[in-house]
Formats: sequence, C-alpha cells, structure tokens
Amino acid sequence: MKKQFSVAIIGCGSRGALFAELMLKMDGAYKISALCDICAEQIEKTKDLLSLRDTEDFTDVEGFFEKKRADVLVIASHDREHVPQALRGLELGYDILLEKPISDSREELSALLEAQKKSGRTVIVCHELRYGKAYMKCEEILRSGILGRLYMIDASERPVYWHWAQSYVRGVGASLKLGHPAILAKCSHDLNLVQNFADSECDTVSSVGGLDFFKPENAPEGAADRCLDCKHVDTCPYSAKRIYIDMWHKAGEPEFVWPYNKVTLAIPNTEQSLMEGIRTGEYGRCAFKCPVEKVDNQMVQMTFKNGVRASLKMAYASEVGRRIVFYCTHGEMVFEDRTRSIEVRRFGEPVEVIDTRALTNGSGVGHGGGDKEIIREFYEILCGERRPSTDLKESIECHLMGVAAEESRALGGALVKVHS
Ligand SMILES: NC(=O)c1ccc[n+]([C@@H]2O[C@H](COP(=O)([O-])OP(=O)(O)OC[C@H]3O[C@@H](n4cnc5c(N)ncnc54)[C@H](O)[C@@H]3O)[C@@H](O)[C@H]2O)c1
Repeated sequence: MKKQFSVAIIGCGSRGALFAELMLKMDGAYKISALCDICAEQIEKTKDLLSLRDTEDFTDVEGFFEKKRADVLVIASHDREHVPQALRGLELGYDILLEKPISDSREELSALLEAQKKSGRTVIVCHELRYGKAYMKCEEILRSGILGRLYMIDASERPVYWHWAQSYVRGVGASLKLGHPAILAKCSHDLNLVQNFADSECDTVSSVGGLDFFKPENAPEGAADRCLDCKHVDTCPYSAKRIYIDMWHKAGEPEFVWPYNKVTLAIPNTEQSLMEGIRTGEYGRCAFKCPVEKVDNQMVQMTFKNGVRASLKMAYASEVGRRIVFYCTHGEMVFEDRTRSIEVRRFGEPVEVIDTRALTNGSGVGHGGGDKEIIREFYEILCGERRPSTDLKESIECHLMGVAAEESRALGGALVKVHS
C-alpha cells in the first residue's frame, strides 16, 4: 500500500490552504491532521474548503509546538515567523516544507542550516518555479550547449500593478515587522532561478531601488482614504472597486479564488461580501496612503564565480509575466512568460519558438504547475526515492544574494560580497 504522511500546517491563509488542497489531491499520499493559525477564521475557512473533519486545531502557537503533531510540518505563516517556527519544528523532528522567504538575516539563515544538518531532517523551501516545466526547459537548453557558453542573464520580475498594490502596499507584505524586504519577499524565486541558471556561486552584488510611487503625494487629487468614498473610484487603476468587484464580475464571479479571497473569507465570495471587505478591510484603503515600509522598485546586479554576470529588475507592470534573456557565446534565448514562449536564437540559424503552454503539466494553477510539482516531489523525498531539486543550502544561498542586495541598497548601490 502507498505510504501516507500526516501533515500539520501552521499558517492557514492562502498558501497554507493551497498546500493542503494540493496534498489532498494526491490520492492518499498525505493526510492533514493538524492546523494552526493565530486567526480561528482562517482555520475554519481551510476546514470548510477542504471538508476536513478530524484535524487537531490550534490558535495557540505554543500549544501547537508542545509536541510533534504529524510526520510533516508545512510552514506558511508570515515571513518573520518562518525561521523561529522551522527551528522549533526541527527540534520536534519534523520534515518541513517551508514557505519562502526564509529570512533576511545572515545569522538566522546559518542557524537554520546548522539546525537542519544537526537534525538530519529534510527542509524544502517553496521555490516552486524551479519545478515549472518552462524554466526547466530553459535550463535543459542552456546545459545542452547548443547556444555555447552562458555569459550574461537579464531577468525581470513584473507582477501586475494591482498584485503589487495588494501584496506590498495594502496587505501585510507592506510591513517590515511581519515581512522581509521586497527583493526577498517577491524575488527570492528569481534569485534562485538566476543562481541555478548561472550554475555557480554568486560572488558580488550591487543594488539600487526605492519607494518612489506609493506615497501620499502621488495620490490622485482630492483622493479619499478609502476607495469606496473616493471620487476616483471608477477611474483610478488602484481602485479597490475596480480590482475586487469589477474584475471579479469579469472573471465570472469565481467562488473562492485569489485575489478575491484575500478580501473576504466568506465562502462563496459574493458582491456583497467583497463590498463589505473593501468597505472595512485593509484592501479597500487608498493605495497611496498606506504605511508602506518597502521599496516599490529595485534592480540587482550580480557576478558569479564562473564569470557569468546577471541583472534582475523588480517592477510593477501592466501585465504579469517574468522575462529572462540569456546571452551565450553562440546564441541567445528569450523566456517570455507573457507570450508563453521561449525563443531560441542560434547565431546564423532560424529562430526556434517553443510554446511553453505545452510544458505546464496540464495545470497553469499555482506558478505554472510548480506548486503541484513541489508537493509531489516532497512526497518522493519523504519516501526516500529522490533528492530535492533544490535543497536548503541552495535556497539559503539565493537568500544570501537577496540579503547582500539589501545591504548594497542601504549603502547606495555599493558592491557587496555575498559571503562576507
Ligand atoms: N511561494 C510563493 O510563491 C508564495 C506566494 C505567496 C506567498 N508566499 C509566502 O507564504 C507565506 C504565507 O503567505 P499567504 O499569502 O498565505 O499569507 P496569508 O496572510 O494569507 O496567510 C498567512 C497566515 O499565517 C497566519 N499567521 C500569522 N502569524 C502566525 C503565527 N505566528 N502562527 C501561526 N499562524 C500565523 C495568519 O493569520 C494567516 O492566516 C508568506 O511568508 C508569503 O511570503 C509564498
């Protein structure tokens, strides 16, 4: 019979509930046995959504950590809880699926690696893009050598403007008390991808960036504190009514999906519950008047020990989609998420265009199928059938690149060694 692993989840918000859902879809591979969240409503939501009846539930985090509750711990709480909870989890002997970002502190990163080594347990960080088939295809082409030697990477992470406002302006992601700097919170995936493509340890980093736009002086003239009270409610691109009501109607009034399920936990979402959410909750505040503690744009330049150079731009944009250009000695490759394509341009040869829709495991849901894949691979690791595609040491390495980027930014763009 197939081996089954019991799972405890701490942090039952969007990500915690998604992991539970994906785990339950794996035909008895996992059983959700404990849920912990400081917000009882999030636990109830997760149980309702997934018809969970026999879980142990905790709003008291200390009580949850009194003893081991399952084979596996999924940590999907807010950023700053990740390492403290992972350390407690390792002490109890859990294998852990840990949401990114891990930490913005060199000390915490090395403490986690030490604890993981000492415990002998598995800790997988959710860099699900590494499991996305389109990114894997880019890696395969680079490694095949048909483009010659890679010497430069130019990557851009372009979350759509309303996603940026939701996650890093209006939501908890705007706070540095609960969250890590944007370059880690939004781009630890990109740093991880770039490092993997470069195939070498990162040596130096420099970075500039700032909070330039989401400030009171950039609010439309006469803007109110809340969108529903504002004369710009039907024209401002950041109007909560346009994002969470008009867009929800256009999307076919889905029952309970991101981004609308951030605004209200009422299942199913209705116009009335969404309206109530933006009338009273954080996502209905004027995007220009929120207490934002993070940058809204940043650039990072990296040099790798094997001579590869890379840049990464983090910018809110009109349409979601990463773009990565790879410059090689005998050709060029352009990954473009918006057009779902990879262009392979060998010098002097016709351009080959790969349609990446054909590569996404039949599921665009959750980072091009990456979320589903990470859950599947985690199971195989737990069964001892394989090693991780990206292990904790590698995840920590790309976080150190982000830490160095923040150190550089604070120094006005100075060159910083990743390993100081
Ligand atoms: N891998 C990815 O691509 C990806 C995508 C989105 C978010 N994330 C990360 O996943 C984490 C969760 O994000 P989310 O979007 O689900 O946020 P969320 O706010 O929807 O969920 C977080 C949950 O954690 C709970 N919580 C906060 N502090 C806690 C504590 N001390 N103990 C237990 N529960 C606690 C909150 O009540 C909330 O329900 C964040 O760290 C975020 O950066 C990763």
